[in-house]
Amino acid sequence: MPGELKIVPLQESSADDFKNVFRIYNDSFPESIWSEKYFKNYFFHPKENPLSFMFKIDGEIVGFVFGKMLPRSNSFNISSLWVSKKHRHKYFGKKLIEAIIKAASKIKNIEEIYLHFREKNQLTAYYEKLSFTSDGIDTAYSNGDRRYRMSLTVNNNQ
Ligand SMILES: CC(C)(COP(=O)(O)OP(=O)(O)OC[C@H]1O[C@@H](n2cnc3c(N)ncnc32)[C@H](O)[C@@H]1OP(=O)(O)O)[C@@H](O)C(=O)NCCC(=O)NCCS
Repeated sequence: MPGELKIVPLQESSADDFKNVFRIYNDSFPESIWSEKYFKNYFFHPKENPLSFMFKIDGEIVGFVFGKMLPRSNSFNISSLWVSKKHRHKYFGKKLIEAIIKAASKIKNIEEIYLHFREKNQLTAYYEKLSFTSDGIDTAYSNGDRRYRMSLTVNNNQ
């Protein structure tokens, strides 16, 4: 069906999609470049509950989100969220975050979902709309940019 929105777990995507997400990620976040090896390990680490989703419309990747559990912790980290420029403000970002929160909330012993962003990117209001609360500045990125932390508590422990 034309214009159909598909949500696909990245681990189940084709090699081409995987490569494209890698390229888009590094093009979109030039201050946090990942090597191909790091990227592959991130999604297939057996002990860290990696979760990731992408949206496709008519075969085109229009958004993705990735996250995983911090080793030996009860915290799940969302490390990246991206929506293509032409599809912003259509609630794809919201839907991606909702999808990863729903999936992460099923992980045994999870207590918290958190994320960081560069303070200069001013995303506090955005993530507040998605139920996150501010934890404030939490150290800095390697280039010295202030790193802002936000989180939400997960109540449905199993
Ligand atoms: C941030 C980003 C993911 C938002 O995606 P999006 O699909 O356009 O956002 P949504 O349509 O889901 O927006 C949901 C709400 O947040 C608002 N919003 C969107 N971008 C916002 C921003 N940068 N700051 C504040 N509010 C924002 C929307 O207006 C909407 O508000 P409403 O519910 O009152 O209508 C997208 O702009 C993006 O990919 N940016 C570049 C990469 C990036 O900064 N990623 C996040 C850091 S890792």
